[in-house]
Amino acid sequence: QKGLRVSDKGFLNTAVIQSEITYIDGDAGILRYRGYPIEQLATQSSFLETAYLLIYGVLPTKDQFTLFESEILHHGVVHAESEEFFRSFRYDAHPMAILTSAFAYLGSYYSEANPSLQGQSLFTKGDKASLANMDKQIFRLIGKATTFAAMAYRVRQGRDFVTPPTGLSYTASFLYQLDHLGQVDYAPSPVLAKALDVLFLLHADHELNASCTTVLQTASSLVDPYSAIAAGCASLYGPLHGGANEAVIRMLISIGSPANVPAFIEAVKRREKVLSGFGHRVYKTTDPRSYIIRKTADEVFKITGKDELLETAMALHDAAMNDEFFQKRKLYPNVDFWSGLIYRAMGFPLDFFPVLFVVPRVVGWLAHWRQMMLQQGGVKIWRPRQVYVGPSKRDYVSIDDRT
Ligand code: SDX
Repeated sequence: QKGLRVSDKGFLNTAVIQSEITYIDGDAGILRYRGYPIEQLATQSSFLETAYLLIYGVLPTKDQFTLFESEILHHGVVHAESEEFFRSFRYDAHPMAILTSAFAYLGSYYSEANPSLQGQSLFTKGDKASLANMDKQIFRLIGKATTFAAMAYRVRQGRDFVTPPTGLSYTASFLYQLDHLGQVDYAPSPVLAKALDVLFLLHADHELNASCTTVLQTASSLVDPYSAIAAGCASLYGPLHGGANEAVIRMLISIGSPANVPAFIEAVKRREKVLSGFGHRVYKTTDPRSYIIRKTADEVFKITGKDELLETAMALHDAAMNDEFFQKRKLYPNVDFWSGLIYRAMGFPLDFFPVLFVVPRVVGWLAHWRQMMLQQGGVKIWRPRQVYVGPSKRDYVSIDDRT
């Protein structure tokens, strides 16, 4: 145990990798994907184009994007037996539990993607064959993420599954699969499809957050990427992480009205409640994504009508922003504070909100996975140490002699 010390609780100040993918300045509230400011991407790019940027490090040419998009949309189709898999869950299973299982299930189809079965150098050689093999797993996971999410949604709604349509963008195709009720030539609202595309883009990556760390920790043993993504999905499920967008709405519903905000704030200060959607391990100012999401909400409300929780959310936001308890701890709105209001206005069920975080985040997880597989010197298993503070050596006592 010589020289070992717990450097910081919860990896507060520990860097385990170098990365070229996402840059965050938590004090200045800056977020860039491969050097491009999130504000520029959100207004000028699309989710799938940004996915290409995150994974390959450059903005695609028209031909590169056309090929990338067609590969991903092509892989949106899932195996027929998947329907039985999704129907095997109880009617009230949380969609995040379904999705976490679905990613691991998906891996069982592709033994050729499993280094344990095919030998460890499957993805790490960096030659044409292994790059192409990596791409295929990436296309499959991004393509099937929306189909699986839509299937988890429809099984909960007691509806039949919908084959992914052709001729729609990635996000519009997802909305189509969610909402299609058999109407002839149904098309999702372009305003809502655009709003969801911006939200997907904003949620695509966020450097080494808890779920991305989980994916890389898992992938460091060279397990297949489907199992690593399933692990990341499980981590994102938690209310301190991706589950916060659902927790914010439950919090707003429990507060009930702006008049009850002061009492809620006092309960938070007494540590009886947590202000979900506020605070962040890295941002010590407002999360830059939350400004864009707040603006997107107004666009959506023009179509859907204002959510009755908006007034309470605004009152809570203003009260916390002007309260010394939060200012002193640098607790400001994060990505989850406003996003749930949009999902609710768009009609998604509450427990489906974290699924809307997972679908885009699969891209960030895969960008980091690919970066890890190609890192100089190969993949090293992640195996941190601990400081042992348990009992020193003692001898076994038989059960008859124990009091
Ligand atoms: C995401 O990491 C990422 O990048 C994540 C993410 C991504 O894109 O991947 O950005 C997405 O997960 C956003 C965060 C969503 N979670 C929530 O909104 C849940 C509410 N937030 C808190 O649970 C908390 O702020 C965390 C988990 C987000 C961050 O926790 P930290 O960094 O461990 O901070 P901490 O718990 O040490 O808090 C410091 C102080 C403590 O008070 P003291 O003991 O010092 O007096 O602030 C308090 C905490 O009690 N505090 C809060 C609070 N967040 C922190 N008090 C009330 N409400 C809160 N939300």
